[in-house]
Amino acid sequence: MGKTRKRESIKDSESFKIERGIFDERTLLNIYRLMNKGFIDTVESVVKEGKESVVLAGLDKQGRWVAIKVYRTLACDYKSMWKYLVGDPRIKGLKKDRWKVVSLWCKKEFKNLLRAKEGGVDCPQPIAFYQNVLVMEFIGKKGVPAPRLVDVELGNPERVYKKVVKNLEKIIKAGLVHGDFSAYNILFYKKPWIIDFSHAMPIKHHILALDFLKKDIRNISKFFSKLGVEVEDVEEVYRRLLQVVKGG
Ligand SMILES: Nc1ncnc2c1ncn2[C@@H]1O[C@H](COP(=O)(O)OP(=O)(O)OP(=O)(O)O)[C@@H](O)[C@H]1O
Ligand SMILES: [Mg+2]
Repeated sequence: MGKTRKRESIKDSESFKIERGIFDERTLLNIYRLMNKGFIDTVESVVKEGKESVVLAGLDKQGRWVAIKVYRTLACDYKSMWKYLVGDPRIKGLKKDRWKVVSLWCKKEFKNLLRAKEGGVDCPQPIAFYQNVLVMEFIGKKGVPAPRLVDVELGNPERVYKKVVKNLEKIIKAGLVHGDFSAYNILFYKKPWIIDFSHAMPIKHHILALDFLKKDIRNISKFFSKLGVEVEDVEEVYRRLLQVVKGG
């Protein structure tokens, strides 16, 4: 059960496509580190290869499925990430160093998820992170991820809309703006699950927070109104949510 066996099991796995260079050596070492720390036991498959990240499905020592989000470091637009991060006045002196920027991005998603979860948001429970690798609760069944809202036919879109808006409200109550809130970043497994908190920012500390909040509301209203749901007016939701900010 040592490091070597796990190393081999990753390298042997076809789905890792190591030979195509999906993961650099440092990223692999980061995954091994999380394995050695006991957060991941085995890596089973690739769930999604995105532009900014690769999401893997794995199992932990108790046999529970975990999602492993690996941020790309070579292909990413770390200069935009940097600009985004320094918009938060609490982040000072961040150098334009690829690894530093991506690691902070990953840590930010972990912390945002934690904060959202504590605020009762239906989002994955964050488990651990190390540099560019984040481990979290798996939303779906047996390594098959739940579909995104854009991919499912909803039986009762009104009810789902209400739940989504409720989640948006809880995110605000937790002091955050999601920043990329859309039907692409919501999975559906019995209920809507909000994912992808890497862009999320503290509402009171980020210069762009309120602009993003409006965009988030607009995105979701547009999606549900296309499904025939009588959505609340964007400006009204915005005002209501701002009240939540002032109140808390
Ligand atoms: N906790 C999770 N459980 C199950 N699947 C997940 C989880 N997190 C992410 N995924 C899967 O990975 C995909 C991409 O995740 P996410 O949106 O967080 O990353 P991303 O870098 O923004 O990718 P993209 O650019 O495709 O949006 C999701 O659509 C989903 O299929
Ligand atoms: Mg996404």
